[in-house]
Amino acid sequence: MGEGKSLSKAILFGEHFVVHGTHAIGAALSKEIRVRISKSDKLSINIQTGQIVLDASRKILDSMDLRGNYSIEVDAEIPSSAGLGWSAAYSVALARAAANEKGITLTPEQASQYAYVGEKVFHGNPSGFDNALCALGGALMFKRGEKPISVKIGAPLHLVVAYVPRTSVTRDLVAGVSRIKEEKPEFFSLLMKKEEALVMNAKDALAKGDIPLLGKLMDENQEYLRQVGVSNPALEEIISLAKKGGAMGAKLTGAGGGGCAIALARSKNDTKTIMHAIGTKYLVFEAQIG
Ligand code: MEV
Repeated sequence: MGEGKSLSKAILFGEHFVVHGTHAIGAALSKEIRVRISKSDKLSINIQTGQIVLDASRKILDSMDLRGNYSIEVDAEIPSSAGLGWSAAYSVALARAAANEKGITLTPEQASQYAYVGEKVFHGNPSGFDNALCALGGALMFKRGEKPISVKIGAPLHLVVAYVPRTSVTRDLVAGVSRIKEEKPEFFSLLMKKEEALVMNAKDALAKGDIPLLGKLMDENQEYLRQVGVSNPALEEIISLAKKGGAMGAKLTGAGGGGCAIALARSKNDTKTIMHAIGTKYLVFEAQIG
């Protein structure tokens, strides 16, 4: 028997654009996914899910040279398809469980690499940021193909996370953005430049703990995400309710098409009004980063 667990994640700035080469910033969330594997006569999983989870699991186990079949038990504190990294966290937890079964321990970087094997099955062309966040933890800045670096958080971020079921899957949302890149190269390249500058400003604002500027940058980032078509009416409603509730800024997090939005509160005390404003209609919880 082998056991492993992983943190989940929230992308603060740069999702989607990171797939095409900008930096992005995100942080691990303390909500966990735990996986336990035990030898069995066929590869199976205890949750109701699609074939893709079994395919990704097979790939991860094969890449770790763990042959034979396993019954996989998953216990998750986050919903799947919510933008909080279910697939990445599951993949990290499974890689750690497989290592545990083999009697070895993975470094966070190794856990991230094995999880990326699963992420490719789930999403087609993932940047690798989600698995890095889930495996390494903390707040990170990431660029595709480079080693993630730690980001300084000058003042804690009090976030309200709101959830609405998804209408599209990550793979299709990522492919939709790639289509825009192909069809409108100049428009897309301008957005990439704006996004890269925004992420760099966000890194400085995070280090200084400049909450009003971070809120403004979140709003701006949401505008770029709208322009590549990954927001939707429910997310827009959450964002507008959050702003009415006093949020400094709000945006979708992760792939969009539903899933989660994050709203930044001026202080811990202010999270209550924001939660109240959104929570009458949507599922909400608080998260603190830093
Ligand atoms: C999904 O959590 C984040 C995306 O940027 C995809 C990726 O980075 O692979 C939309």
